[in-house]
Amino acid sequence: MIHVIFVCLGNICRSPMAEGVFAHLVAEAGLGEVVAVDSAGTAGYHTGERPHRGTQQVLREHGVVYNGRARQVSQADMNPAHWVVAMDGENTADLRRQFGEHPRLHRLLDFATQHRHVQNVPDPYYTGNFEYVYELVLDGCQGLLAHIRQAEGV
Ligand code: 4NP
Repeated sequence: MIHVIFVCLGNICRSPMAEGVFAHLVAEAGLGEVVAVDSAGTAGYHTGERPHRGTQQVLREHGVVYNGRARQVSQADMNPAHWVVAMDGENTADLRRQFGEHPRLHRLLDFATQHRHVQNVPDPYYTGNFEYVYELVLDGCQGLLAHIRQAEGV
């Protein structure tokens, strides 16, 4: 099983959206038994909560089912076999500070092909623009899946 984990700050807006979208793409590609998808936050303020209503709404509008609840990232998530995909540079810096360097730590938008000028997924908790975040997340997830399929030969 190839494990992919998406990481943001609170695990209620961006990383659950990415988890839902990526799992949807993985299932569409027939790789549901090959790729495991998860998400977590660098902070634990929202542990146990359902995603922000803006994330729930945008996922519903795009036909993506998501049943997860927020949790904080831990050392066990950082196993080198995992692809660790952060939403912004603050998330990657926090992960490096807490857990050290990881060979497969990336930012989601490193894989985007339609939004090459954007490097960080802006936090809709502050901006309120969940639809724009969805567009960025979808672009990044499509590129990420293509990259992982090539790298892992699946
Ligand atoms: P997320 O957004 O990192 O995309 O889940 C946030 C959620 C909560 C907070 C900040 C960002 N917060 O400060 O509570």
